[in-house]
Amino acid sequence: MSEKRHRVSRRQFLNYTLTGVGGFMAAGMLMPMVRFALDPVLRPTEDQDMVQVVSVDELTNEPQRFDFKIKQVDAWYESEESRSAWVFKSGDEIVALSPVCKHLGCTVNWNSDPKNPNKFFCPCHYGLYEKDGTNVPGTPPLAPLDRYEQEVKDGYLYLGKAKPRKDG
Ligand code: FES
Repeated sequence: MSEKRHRVSRRQFLNYTLTGVGGFMAAGMLMPMVRFALDPVLRPTEDQDMVQVVSVDELTNEPQRFDFKIKQVDAWYESEESRSAWVFKSGDEIVALSPVCKHLGCTVNWNSDPKNPNKFFCPCHYGLYEKDGTNVPGTPPLAPLDRYEQEVKDGYLYLGKAKPRKDG
């Protein structure tokens, strides 16, 4: 009786060992494949590079619109996307505003509404913003225009991501 139990136990041991070794080997082969397939999804989103937009010499106190392209990486898919910025000098500071209205995302223009000179105007629902991007109370937008991250290098303005204003 005990001899029979011992034989079964040996067979079981062999089964477990072979299953374990087989599973270990299969996992060793499959893991690199799974990792390769999922890697772009698991990788943390890279910070968007700063993009050269305009020579600082071209900037004035009047907001001007500049268009530029950024590289967008979405898992396996790489593309170029267009961006715009309203850029002007304010004393020693350079201000670069996103043209995307904070109400429903239409594009704002500078000084385009004769009834509201020297303001950013959104034609979709008559939204207004001051020159520094602050939303005018009583118009649909409830937050200031986003500001681009920026840096000046070798006389050129580089822009990164547009971010909400902290005081907005
Ligand atoms: S989208 Fe600009 S005011 Fe509505």
